[in-house]
Amino acid sequence: MTYFSGFSVPFLLKLSLISISLQVPTSLQFPQENPIITDFDVSAQTRITRGDDHGSDVEWCYQNATCGETTWPSTCLTGKAQSPINFPPLEKTTCTIKNFPRTSYNSQKFSLESNGKSLVIKLLDKTKQQRIHFQWQEQNASYNFNSIHMHWGGNNSVGSEHSIDSKRFAIEMHLIHVRADFKTLPDALSFGKKNALAVLGILFEVDPNLKEKQNENLQPIVKNIHEITHSGVVKNLEEKLNLQAFMKGNHAYHYMGSLTTPSCNEAVAWLVWQKPIKISSLDLDALRTVKNTMGEPLMNNFRSTQKTNERKITLCEIKAGKVKDNVGNKPTQEELMAHSKL
Ligand SMILES: *[C@@H]1O[C@H](CO)[C@@H](O)[C@H](O)[C@H]1NC(C)=O
Ligand SMILES: *[C@@H]1O[C@H](CO)[C@@H](O)[C@H](O)[C@H]1NC(C)=O
Ligand SMILES: *[C@@H]1O[C@H](CO)[C@@H](O)[C@H](O)[C@H]1NC(C)=O
Repeated sequence: MTYFSGFSVPFLLKLSLISISLQVPTSLQFPQENPIITDFDVSAQTRITRGDDHGSDVEWCYQNATCGETTWPSTCLTGKAQSPINFPPLEKTTCTIKNFPRTSYNSQKFSLESNGKSLVIKLLDKTKQQRIHFQWQEQNASYNFNSIHMHWGGNNSVGSEHSIDSKRFAIEMHLIHVRADFKTLPDALSFGKKNALAVLGILFEVDPNLKEKQNENLQPIVKNIHEITHSGVVKNLEEKLNLQAFMKGNHAYHYMGSLTTPSCNEAVAWLVWQKPIKISSLDLDALRTVKNTMGEPLMNNFRSTQKTNERKITLCEIKAGKVKDNVGNKPTQEELMAHSKL
């Protein structure tokens, strides 16, 4: 899970290497009646660069001695509940997510963009009533879907952030959700709750048998990637995107962790689907044409696994259920009660 400072003008100025800045803030592109919270909203308030901590003007990055992981700020290095981690090969479920609205994870209108660090996907057809929303009883919380981004490798044996029994996967997709009693993602983070966000992780692996046969559910993304000619370009698409198809089986690893990019806030209730999705090499080739802020192919945008420390890792059963009508973004009375006791 990451959130990126995206396309704010100060951010772009800070990155003096960037010469192209064609984009209006993505948050302005949503219909008025549909004020979806975007990562962009976060940037002004909680933008963290290495400059804030080190007096240097270098943005964080992956795999580079001057701005890579070992130089990331504060919590990233000192935190005891960091993400990602390696999962043990669990088989027995010891928790349950009831009424998970899997079928609502689809869209007819979405956007693709590269923010230089990842490929970001936003669903543009989710009005307040249709907003993807789920209740997580164990967390005493409801969550609203926010946005999606992906991590991938330079070759097919790396790319995911989490691993299972030390096995790494080719892609990890993150579906970010914000606790429903907070208006914005930065509000949720600044409140300092360990479960301010819920992130659903989905793992993808290359099936050599697929050869030319690509994953059809990934095609709405893959076949339009060439439109993302450089970091900052946003492409709006009116096509069906079936995210539900990526939620295979009924099991997901759960633990409490952090954002996987600076500022590494320890505020994420993680749910990583146990079953990986099969893709072909061709699908990955497309992803690797996404450009970073310097116009180079973006890849290996994953953080290495962190110490589990004393954290509990469980395997949860995800039970199907309907989205309640008009749940909107309000917490239930029960949740309010539970929160007031915290
Ligand atoms: C690391 O980042 C610095 C600053 O952005 C850049 O000048 C340098 O070329 C990068 N090194 C590598 C090996 O990518
Ligand atoms: C949820 O609420 C119950 C009852 O107030 C409490 O015992 C429990 O610790 C809470 N769980 C979390 C994760 O906050
Ligand atoms: C894949 O990339 C990783 C990270 O760059 C590297 O360590 C590994 O050796 C590569 N594996 C293969 C099979 O090329």
